This record gives sequence, C-alpha cells and structure tokens, in this order.
Amino acid sequence: FDAVDIIRTKRDKGTLSPEQIDWTIDAYTRGVIADEQMSALNMAILLNGMDRAEISRWTAAMIASGERMDFSSLGKPTADKHSTGGVGDKITLPLAPLVAVFGVAVPQLSGRGLGHPGGTLDKLEAIPGWRAVLSNEEMMRQLGTVGAVICAAGAGLAPADRKLYALRDVTGTVEAIPLIASSIMSKKIAEGTGSLVLDVKVGSGAYMKDEASARELAGTMVALGTDAGVKTVALLTNMDTPLGLTAGNAIEVEEAVEVLAGGGPDDVVELTVRLAEERLQAAGVAGADPAAALKDGRAMDVWNRMIEAQGGDPRAKLPVARHSEVVHAPADGVLLRLDALAAGQAAWRLGAGRARKEHPVQAGAGVRLHAKPGAVVRAGEPLMTLLTDTPDRFDRAREALAGAVVIGPEGDRPDQRLILGRI
Ligand code: URA
Repeated sequence: FDAVDIIRTKRDKGTLSPEQIDWTIDAYTRGVIADEQMSALNMAILLNGMDRAEISRWTAAMIASGERMDFSSLGKPTADKHSTGGVGDKITLPLAPLVAVFGVAVPQLSGRGLGHPGGTLDKLEAIPGWRAVLSNEEMMRQLGTVGAVICAAGAGLAPADRKLYALRDVTGTVEAIPLIASSIMSKKIAEGTGSLVLDVKVGSGAYMKDEASARELAGTMVALGTDAGVKTVALLTNMDTPLGLTAGNAIEVEEAVEVLAGGGPDDVVELTVRLAEERLQAAGVAGADPAAALKDGRAMDVWNRMIEAQGGDPRAKLPVARHSEVVHAPADGVLLRLDALAAGQAAWRLGAGRARKEHPVQAGAGVRLHAKPGAVVRAGEPLMTLLTDTPDRFDRAREALAGAVVIGPEGDRPDQRLILGRI
C-alpha cells in the first residue's frame, strides 16, 4: 500500500478497503506513515466522512494495536461510562462508587484534561496523596475489594489512538465524528467492559454544538459497541451551561462529595442518578434505588474506600486557591444564559486546565457559580467567583467571560432541560 494513494482515495470521497485501513493504522503506529501524511488523511476524513463499515474496521484496527483487558475472572458484571466532555462535569466521581454499591464492578479508565473541558484525573489529584497510575494487577485487586476504581488508562490500551489523538489535537481534526467515535470506542472495547453508558454532551461547551451531530455521534458509538458485543446506550445531555456550581479541580471534588453526602446541586444529582440507573440496567441489575444510596451513605462508604485504596485521604482538607475575585450581575432580571464554553475557558485560563499535555494544573483554581440559568438576580449581586493562585490570570479570565452572561426580563424562562434524548 501507499499512503499517498490512500489519502487521494479519501480526498476524492472514495471508500477505504478493510486492508487499506488495517495497513494505515499499523503503519502509522510503527512510524511508517509520517505525521504530515496522517494529518492530511485525518482532514480528508473530517471533510468527507467514513461509512459504517470503514468506521468499524478503523476501530478494530486501533483495538488490535494494543492489549485487551479482561475482567471476567471477577465473576461480577462490569459497567463503564464515558462522557464526551464538558464544563463542570464531575459526574464520574460520585457515579463510580454509587454503581459499585449494587455489586457491579466499575473499572473507570480516565484521562487528564486538555483545553477547556476538565479531566477526571486532574480533579482527583487535588486530593492529597491520591494516585492515578495503577498497574493492571492493582486495578484488578481494587475491583475485587472495593468494587470501583478510577485510574489512568495504561499505555498498552489502543496505542494507535494515543498517537492519533495527539496529532488530531494539533491539526484541527478532533471534531470528526468517525474519528471521535472510533477513538472513544476503541479504548472502551479494548478495556473489556461488559456494558457501557455514553453521556454525549450537546451545546456550547461540548464538541458537538447541535443536537443533530450529537445524535449522529451517539448512534455511531452505540452501533460500534453493540457490534463488538458490549451492551451500549447513550444519553444526550445539555452542555450549554456548566454542570453544577463548580468548574475546576478541588472545587469539583468538593461538590462531588456533597452529592455523595446526599446534597449537592440538583442537576448534578439528577444526572448522577439517571446515569447510575442506565448503567445498572445495562449491567443487568434490577430493582436498584441509586438515589437512596446517595442519601443513606452507602455510596460515600465506597468513595472513602476507593480514595484510600489509591493512597488518598478522603478526609483531608482540599487545596484552596490563594486569590479570588467576584463577578457581579450587570442588571436585574432572570439569568437566561451562563455560557459553558466561556466558563470553561475562564476556569482554564485561571489555571484549572492546561494548554499542553506536559503542563501542570492548579488544584484550587476554577470558577464557582452563585446562580444558574433560571435564577432571578439583582444588579451587583455576586454571579461567580474566580479562583487562582496566580492573580495575573484574572484579566484573561474576565475576557473569556465577555458576553457569557445574558439577563432577561422577569417572566422569561431559559430552556433548562438536562437530558435531551436516549439512544
Ligand atoms: N475523547 C477521546 O477519547 N477521543 C476523541 O477523539 C475525542 C474525545
């Protein structure tokens, strides 16, 4: 095969053969196809798409580039969840221990954040002592004893995707539905989970800005999972405004712990409970009441043991940012919009996120909201608090927030639906 022929085929809207796809993924992983050739092919795929058979083969080739995990020796059903990423999305933190309460093993392989959506591992690393990197043996042991583990995906899982995702990130080709679907699903299928619930975000703070493309992405991923024998369902959920009242690292852990203590913001509780119900159903558990397990402390018990098992102290005081600034409401009225992308970028600029893979994040940085869309506010009232250790970042965070807040006349109601659909 020849890389240039393959690029030309996709450029001219042709279909790649299974053999061409297998060769492409393998040759790129081995360094035979150069980055500039792979970027050209990615751009052709972004512009011209791939059909279902091509996407399915592309996914299989990425799975074949690395190891496959196997949890069958645990003798329990396994359930995983993946969110396509959003602002203030800390749902994995309360959800993993909550699902484990009902005897389902939760191997939650997670990542660090790049750009404005936060990463689950960055959040948990705000907990003193907590360790993200576990060996496969440690992970299996913890699944046996605690039932839930949130840890870094090992380098052995779909190495082709690791290389390809990094390339897409710097070449403007992340937002291609075939590439996103195959990237996510290759890792989830290689991980060996029995069932998977996808939380596909829609809105300003998500990859998919409109419902039609989110639906297409969700449908593609559900088909890939189902074809690979993984019971897969997807929810489409709103990401026009941040989830909950916090976007950052330590402040998101604090909010997750509130939910585990039976409190917390309504939207975070609603999505946590709904995703738990979906996950338990997909794993074949009937008659569970996850809302009750948040109220009565069972989920908190699993959380405490899960954090301790990875070296963390669940009772330790979390880091607090050294500096804060309040953003005030500019007018009286109903808060109609508090834009997720802008809030995420502000949190990122304050130090909660990173611009490059190797950069550190500030544990205490982020944005705390004091009102959500639908609330009645008065001019001069605090709307948000910006948090950082490095106060020279406040100006750029305020710039990111320009135009993010819309206040309308009393009586107007914003669309506050959280769950937009199920596939
Ligand atoms: N997350 C992934 O793992 N891959 C993508 O392509 C996009 C989001």
